[in-house]
Amino acid sequence: MKKRKIAILGATGSIGKNACQIIKENQDKFSLEFFLFNKNIKEAINILNVLKPKYFVTANKEVYEKYKRIYKNLLYIRDLEKIYQDLNIELTLSAIPGSEGIYPTYLACKYSNICAISNKESIVCAYEFLKKEKAKIILCDSEHTSLEELLKGEKKEEIEKLILTASGGPFWELSLEELKHVTFKDALKHPSWNMGPKITIDSASFMNKAFEIIEAALYFEIKNIDVFIHRKSFIHAIVKFIDKSYKFSVSIPDMKIVISYCLNYPNRLKLNLKSLEDLLPLDFKLEEKDLKRFKCLKFGFLGIKNLDDILFRTLLVLGDDLAIKKFAKGEITFLGIYNFIKNFIENNINKFQKPKNIPELLEIIKIIKEENNWEKTKN
Ligand SMILES: NC(=O)c1ccc[n+]([C@@H]2O[C@H](COP(=O)([O-])OP(=O)(O)OC[C@H]3O[C@@H](n4cnc5c(N)ncnc54)[C@H](OP(=O)(O)O)[C@@H]3O)[C@@H](O)[C@H]2O)c1
Repeated sequence: MKKRKIAILGATGSIGKNACQIIKENQDKFSLEFFLFNKNIKEAINILNVLKPKYFVTANKEVYEKYKRIYKNLLYIRDLEKIYQDLNIELTLSAIPGSEGIYPTYLACKYSNICAISNKESIVCAYEFLKKEKAKIILCDSEHTSLEELLKGEKKEEIEKLILTASGGPFWELSLEELKHVTFKDALKHPSWNMGPKITIDSASFMNKAFEIIEAALYFEIKNIDVFIHRKSFIHAIVKFIDKSYKFSVSIPDMKIVISYCLNYPNRLKLNLKSLEDLLPLDFKLEEKDLKRFKCLKFGFLGIKNLDDILFRTLLVLGDDLAIKKFAKGEITFLGIYNFIKNFIENNINKFQKPKNIPELLEIIKIIKEENNWEKTKN
């Protein structure tokens, strides 16, 4: 059987490492051709030794300069387009957090046959441009992969709404008063998912769910979307039909299920994981969202209202990236994230023309990052 040629953008992260594990366990099906990382050289070398890709690519100049003589197949991100041109990549998994993921994801869509996107920020900022490229885009996110499966074979006119679930994050039980005092470290303790720091903070603030609402609206072209809280995180998404019937997608909360489905798309892989039955009795309790305590969720609904406004969506992503850096440094509070993003959008929305293509979008992002001393605020 011909092996599927895979590239992973962000291989040393939470999504990336899970993907590498799946590839390792299925080496008859997949070959990792190259991967991109930032500075975790230890994990990168580990992946290099186990999966033996042709190249490994860093986005960090210092890492590149330090190790390029030892590892002849270590390349710098500047060569990413050339690497894509050289290797015939069938499927890329895009898993770099935040706005840093947009450019690599664009190249992945330009050169791969399939692009499985975990980096929801790329979809939020640039879906209309990315979908014009060569790749078939699939979403690698538990809610959206679930929706994709739930919607298979259904008629759009029979769908009343899409429902995304949220775990509620580490602060769901806290009052508004208590939320005033939570720290960056507190926000990093997610109750049910083990993820990278950016998405963990976004989950605590509900910004992650706001992005997911916009991502779902753009990708499925359905604007009636709601959010319920499911603390146990085994219900990922729900579709409500016009006859008031529902379809639920359930599984234990383990991203391997989602990632393996995407890597082997459109077929499933056999996985040796715990089953939902192991968790019996199951608690299906769903709770209402709370826009007073978790104001950032409002951006998701505002995003649906402004779905055609690519500048608004891009500023939302950049504002959140910057807010997290400032929260990490103690410059704003957890509750201050919402106002920071709101002001950031208001201050920038009239400064730029709406981008008409990816180069224009990337130029706007570059200008905004320069204006906000992006490097200096790195966390
Ligand atoms: N984790 C999840 O369960 C989950 C679920 C759904 C969606 N997602 C989405 O998937 C994406 C990745 O999340 P994650 O949790 O896997 O993040 P993560 O654990 O923080 O991993 C980030 C990965 O991206 C690399 N990276 C960071 N900045 C980079 C840059 N400027 N250029 C190139 N590579 C860079 C990191 O390299 P180093 O390790 O070398 O720093 C690492 O490999 C996010 O967009 C997130 O929203 C994640």
